[in-house]
Amino acid sequence: MDMILDAIKKASIEIKNLIETGDTGKSQNQNSTGDTQLKLDIASDEIIESYFKKLSNVKAIVSEEQESVIDINQNGEYLIAYDPLDGSSLVDVNLSVGSIYGIYKDDFKGSNIVASIYVVFGPRVELVYCDGVSVKMFRLQNGEFNYIQDIKLYEIGKLQAPGSTQQCWYPYHKTMIDDFFKAGYRLRYSGGMVPDLHQILLKGGGLFSYPSTTDLPKGKLRQLFEVFPFALVYKCAGGGAIDGKHDLLSIKTLHIHDTSPCFFGSNDEIKKVIEVYKNNG
Ligand code: F6P
Ligand code: MG
Repeated sequence: MDMILDAIKKASIEIKNLIETGDTGKSQNQNSTGDTQLKLDIASDEIIESYFKKLSNVKAIVSEEQESVIDINQNGEYLIAYDPLDGSSLVDVNLSVGSIYGIYKDDFKGSNIVASIYVVFGPRVELVYCDGVSVKMFRLQNGEFNYIQDIKLYEIGKLQAPGSTQQCWYPYHKTMIDDFFKAGYRLRYSGGMVPDLHQILLKGGGLFSYPSTTDLPKGKLRQLFEVFPFALVYKCAGGGAIDGKHDLLSIKTLHIHDTSPCFFGSNDEIKKVIEVYKNNG
């Protein structure tokens, strides 16, 4: 695992330079989910792929920006699914973006995830590593990632980040979100999954939701590249991660680009989501 962590650190330093100096324009291509790829998405993907291709312990990789799995070493131990530059359309307005990595064994599925890593590119570059037990944060300082702290959620938080648009929410979901606001929760939503989830983790708790909606019944966020890695982080930080009713890491993946509704939060908020969703959705 150290080899993978090291490769991600090196790739992240290159991606940081790319974000600072690269072209934020669109490419001619669309990815498998139909998003127009930015030149930054493609360049970040190439950087990461070139590092992973050098690792003897990696069996195969799959990127949100690629159609299919790339085999690397038949005898490798790990499978890596990654989103090279999540929220890339926020770079031109200078908001934070991130990379997300899920590390799996045997098969790309939630129950097989063994570690996850995400990197936030904001005013500072921070890397969060979850080995399936604890969640550790590192910060890039003078070219090196230095350990800063372990991340633990409180039982209840104060922030909420509600995804998608209100017109597409089901009535029970809208009532639930309104109830959180009535209880005093503050809105914190940038439209970048990585910084939005990182904020809730570091401020001690709250709820991030991307539900089933009228336009996207299976949600928007991708299981292997986005949902499962953060599910592992939230669970190991002492919170929860559900699709409304079930633990996210127990749901089935039929296709590598499958999506899922998702809720990440501290325990109190997740209990409230379960209360609402057990009779709805
Ligand atoms: O990867 C998809 C993404 O950009 C996430 O980073 C973000 O949380 C989400 O989409 C935002 O979607 P919406 O604008 O529909 O709330
Ligand atoms: Mg993404």
